[in-house]
Amino acid sequence: MHDRASATLPRLLAISGSIRRESNCTAVLRSLQALLPDSASVELFALDEIPLYNADLDGATPPPAVVKLKQAISQADGLVLCSPEYNYGMPGVLKNAIDWASRPGFASPLKGKPALVITASPGTSGGVRAQAQIRDALAATLARPVVRQHVAIANVAAQIRDGRLVHEPTLDFVKAALHDLLDEIALLSGAARRSGRAE
Ligand code: FNR
Repeated sequence: MHDRASATLPRLLAISGSIRRESNCTAVLRSLQALLPDSASVELFALDEIPLYNADLDGATPPPAVVKLKQAISQADGLVLCSPEYNYGMPGVLKNAIDWASRPGFASPLKGKPALVITASPGTSGGVRAQAQIRDALAATLARPVVRQHVAIANVAAQIRDGRLVHEPTLDFVKAALHDLLDEIALLSGAARRSGRAE
């Protein structure tokens, strides 16, 4: 399932649904490393340079930023997405990236990839109305959105200081969700080993 054997040292890839400089969602993702055990690492991938999906460009030599995105997904053991809600749904920036990463259909780097979905909003809903859309789009690619209570961070702007999430109860909730993701990764890599599919 993974391009690299790393059952004991999981590597996570964090993708923000917002590309603005002061993004709250990106700040949440920047805060994850401190919540992980020493054995796990997380790297941010910015979507700034991903062009709009165009099947004409999705041939033998896709745009370089897309190649980098797909490589980063392949090399990760799991994904953490943090996204705002735009007009009650998933921002186009995130959907566009999922569309690029989803090709070839049902055999893309997203196939089988465990993914924790976080939404965040300065408002009271925590962006929760985007959760179903993000999960559905991931499921369409055969990725594996982690099944757990939704992580929807309301009032997020008030919980960020110096580009990091600082609100302890929210950090605890996000940490529990990250551990669910790591459990899912361990479960899947164990299953792959038992069935002889692991590298
Ligand atoms: C928003 N915002 C927003 N918030 C929300 O809770 N529900 C919504 O439906 C929307 N819709 C929406 C549409 C558009 C086009 C914009 C630009 C904004 C507000 C949004 O949550 C807020 O700007 C966040 O701060 C965006 O996330 P980042 O950039 O801080 O990560």
